[in-house]
Amino acid sequence: MTAKAEKRLSGPEGGAQGAPPPADAWGLAEGDEIVSGRSAVRLLGGGERYETYLAWDERLLSLVVVKLVRPNLIEDQHSLDGLAAEAELLERLRHPVIVRGFGAVLDGPRPHVVLEHLEGPRLSTLIRKQGPLEPEQLLPLALQLCSALHYFAAEDLVHLDVKPTNIIMGAPARLIDLSIVRSVAELERVDYRIGTDSYMAPEQCDPGGRGPATTAADVWGMGATLYHAAAGRRPFSRGRRGGSLVERFPQLEEAAAPLGQPVPPELSALIGTCLAPDPAARPAAAELAAQLEHLVAALPKRPVLGRFRIRPRRRDSLGIGSGA
Ligand SMILES: Nc1ncnc2c1ncn2[C@@H]1O[C@H](COP(=O)(O)OP(=O)(O)O)[C@@H](O)[C@H]1O
Ligand SMILES: [Mg+2]
Repeated sequence: MTAKAEKRLSGPEGGAQGAPPPADAWGLAEGDEIVSGRSAVRLLGGGERYETYLAWDERLLSLVVVKLVRPNLIEDQHSLDGLAAEAELLERLRHPVIVRGFGAVLDGPRPHVVLEHLEGPRLSTLIRKQGPLEPEQLLPLALQLCSALHYFAAEDLVHLDVKPTNIIMGAPARLIDLSIVRSVAELERVDYRIGTDSYMAPEQCDPGGRGPATTAADVWGMGATLYHAAAGRRPFSRGRRGGSLVERFPQLEEAAAPLGQPVPPELSALIGTCLAPDPAARPAAAELAAQLEHLVAALPKRPVLGRFRIRPRRRDSLGIGSGA
């Protein structure tokens, strides 16, 4: 099963628990009109409720990303409400590490949100193709994610789905997919699971027993993501659907395997604190950022950078101080 297929809402929001959704797709080809003024370029992805297309926007004269409710769900109130909530967040949130929106069409035959098109591979693709990330790439990513999560926390929001497929590795990296964001207050009333199995904090896996999820759940998601990026593998063994709660969510009882070399021990330790079973024992995103800064400062200087040293220009070449 792919990571994508794991994203589920259980209970009242998710419909039949564990049942795979019917593969209902828009099937748009390049050049097909999505709505007037927006035409499909190619399919980018698709989850349980939405399909995502790269599209051309005639008014913006730009590539955009269009996230559409699947055709079989355009009458489904939960899917429409989810899209409306995502549209509202895209309108409201402003942060350089969080994807921006260009509006939404919430009624009509093709309800959708329009997003800026982000260049760059997904973190999941990068790890799959290139293996573990070096500290020079991992530390800035960690800092950027901390910055986004600090912003979320200040808004009393929990992303709930921080994972490598929801991160685009541009400059800066960008956190996408606001489809299951909840406020801390909403989560106090949630007694069902929301998230992606392998990246869910213990309190997301067992909201009745350990919940409610708070902003610390995103710190866990970031820890699991950074672990995956540092090691090239996920922190916990793969869960088994249909088994007991602990069989499905090994992170409820398993400790993450030590990261070991070549990940610097200080970085391993920080990632480990994000994966603390007790949410109160995890650092806040801002605290983590402060500690990461020290690791960035301690990165070894690479001699190759010397080749790009910029020599100061001579004053006379600028015509300054020559008496002219
Ligand atoms: N703004 C964007 N720019 C580039 N690619 C995107 C963008 N938004 C989504 N995608 C691509 O589409 C996929 C699915 O989008 P996502 O918002 O994560 O929806 P889902 O809820 O189906 O997971 C992403 O994993 C990514 O590959
Ligand atoms: Mg996604």
